[in-house]
Amino acid sequence: MDIKKIFKNNQDWVQDKLNIDANYFTNLSEGQNPEILYIGCSDSRVTAEELMGVSPGEAFIHRNIANMVPNTDLSVMSVIDYAVLHLKVNHVVVCGHYNCGGVKAAMQSQDLGILNPWLRNIRDVYRIHKTELNEISDEEKRYKRLVELNVQEQCINVIKTAEVQRAYRERGITVHGWVFDIHSGRLIDLKIDFSKILQNVMEIYRLE
Ligand code: CO
Repeated sequence: MDIKKIFKNNQDWVQDKLNIDANYFTNLSEGQNPEILYIGCSDSRVTAEELMGVSPGEAFIHRNIANMVPNTDLSVMSVIDYAVLHLKVNHVVVCGHYNCGGVKAAMQSQDLGILNPWLRNIRDVYRIHKTELNEISDEEKRYKRLVELNVQEQCINVIKTAEVQRAYRERGITVHGWVFDIHSGRLIDLKIDFSKILQNVMEIYRLE
């Protein structure tokens, strides 16, 4: 791709927005009030705003390899803190995707250097759900299931944070686990029972 093309695309985009609303960027510069915090994968095929059909200002976005929420990662923890405490989002979404390279890599025993500690968080998900996963003989199906279980475990990591627990008590914030099906383009709601998981998690992780 010609990098200069991006600046041309940007000019066209600015013009398109201004053609619809002359004050578009003036309004955008006044501040943000997003309803959703979206945590997704960095994969170039899995966009955030585009697949959800949301406009600038509507979703606060964090992306990393395999949509992880490790409690030692200052970046994702700061994003959650800022989105929940200051922007006061009412929904936190963890969105995984089938054919995720990060999840695939975690299923293999290869030494990947700096990626090892990151992928270990996914291997931990595998360990927690080892019985269920090992019963799936079809490797492709096992891989898909690990993608889903990883989303579920990252939702649990979101619930473990003091900010989300407080926001749940104060304004009923909800956490959603989704998977983007790269084969069909469809977004799948894993329908994770937030309140049930929350109760289980709170038994051990309650922070007041
Ligand atoms: Co991915």
